[in-house]
Amino acid sequence: MPGLALGDVIPNIEADSTQGPIKLHDYIDESWTIIFSHPGDFTPVCTTELGMIAAYAPEFKKRGVKLLGLSTDSVEDHLRWIKDIEAYTPDAPVQYPILADPHRKITGELNMLDPDEKGPNGKPLASRALHIIGPDKRLKLSFLYPGTTGRNFDEVLRVLDSLQLASKQKIATPVNWQPGEPVLISPSLSDKEAKQQFPQGWKTINLPSGEPYLRLVNLKT
Ligand code: BEZ
Repeated sequence: MPGLALGDVIPNIEADSTQGPIKLHDYIDESWTIIFSHPGDFTPVCTTELGMIAAYAPEFKKRGVKLLGLSTDSVEDHLRWIKDIEAYTPDAPVQYPILADPHRKITGELNMLDPDEKGPNGKPLASRALHIIGPDKRLKLSFLYPGTTGRNFDEVLRVLDSLQLASKQKIATPVNWQPGEPVLISPSLSDKEAKQQFPQGWKTINLPSGEPYLRLVNLKT
């Protein structure tokens, strides 16, 4: 995504929302934050997604994560649409704010516009983008999906768990990792340093190269 790379500080955009005006840096404060865009209110995939995010709110709260939606519709449309979302996904009130960007200013600044998807007025819509922002206000991870493909919020929780673990310890998570499974010791740690961080020990996988870089460790719970 040109203009907003991993590690960049997220722009301090300001916009009106379903819960009043929001300044992004103030909203983030020092929390992990997920900002997610959707192509439009009163559309089917978006209605399923925003309901699921509301249903997963307790999981995000457990991880100390704030949620923030965004589309190019107005606050009035968002407020009317929320009633549909809550009817489709009952017992999951939409308690997170949704930003309104009818002039497409902040959607562009956040690299969330979809150049291929146009509204009835011919103007570009937001894509299904999702940025995970760290407490340092820097971009840690981005998804960019087209309008036709709904996101998987189990995967969002999984990558959050990986990001939060890796922010505290020198580890990385392997392919298809799930919380509780062994993780990989970061290649930046020597065995001597690893011994201090992981006194429980680890398993080094024997590989044809003979290089001891694949070190699996069970984290203490
Ligand atoms: C939807 O939310 O259903 C949708 C939005 C844009 C393109 C395709 C589907």
